[in-house]
Amino acid sequence: MMGVDPAAHWQRLYETRSADEVSWYEPVPEGSLALIRATGIPLEAPILDVGGGASLLADHLLASGYTDISVLDLSPAALEQARARLGPAAGRVTWIAADITSFVPERRYVLWHDRAVLHFILRPGEQRRYLAALRKGLAPHGHVVLATFGPEGPERCSGLPVQRYSAAALQVLLGPGFQLRSSRIEQHRTPGGETQEFLYTWWQATP
Ligand SMILES: C[S@@+](CC[C@H](N)C(=O)[O-])C[C@H]1O[C@@H](n2cnc3c(N)ncnc32)[C@H](O)[C@@H]1O
Repeated sequence: MMGVDPAAHWQRLYETRSADEVSWYEPVPEGSLALIRATGIPLEAPILDVGGGASLLADHLLASGYTDISVLDLSPAALEQARARLGPAAGRVTWIAADITSFVPERRYVLWHDRAVLHFILRPGEQRRYLAALRKGLAPHGHVVLATFGPEGPERCSGLPVQRYSAAALQVLLGPGFQLRSSRIEQHRTPGGETQEFLYTWWQATP
């Protein structure tokens, strides 16, 4: 993100656009929900949605009966949008305004979810700090659901450059200690009618 202050960029974006006006909007985050259900974690297992923004994942997880959901995002305005939409149910979610590349988890999550966040983190030092947060915040044998742009995905999003990933490239980035449980390509239809290639992956921490 050369020359761009990410916190200011995302805050400005969410101050001017609603959740359903952004290219990554999904009324039902089917790809994420399918993988989260596939992990088989108990409904009370702690889940962290990293860079959750104003996504409807928390709404759908609550509706599915999950009880320990945290949503972290760099932009307080994004979290405020999600909170306002959820109304009283927002009180059942933990909201964390933080940069994942400097976040120090205070607890361990059984499931770490990231859709369309890691692919914006381009500097090796920031990637290392993201991975340090992941290793510190993930429970033993914990699950990681990562959705990034795929090998044929866009090269930019929200005006910012992104990294496109294959499952093999993600494995290199994650390093040893994560076993690939599943991976698939999905075509995301943006509200503007474009198609974007996403790679949905599910990893499990190995001892
Ligand atoms: C493309 S949006 C995806 C939002 C959501 N995960 C979804 O699928 O709808 C990227 C999100 O990552 C957040 N973000 C970007 N960099 C971040 C960082 N370093 N730490 C935490 N959140 C970040 C942005 O504020 C934004 O909400």
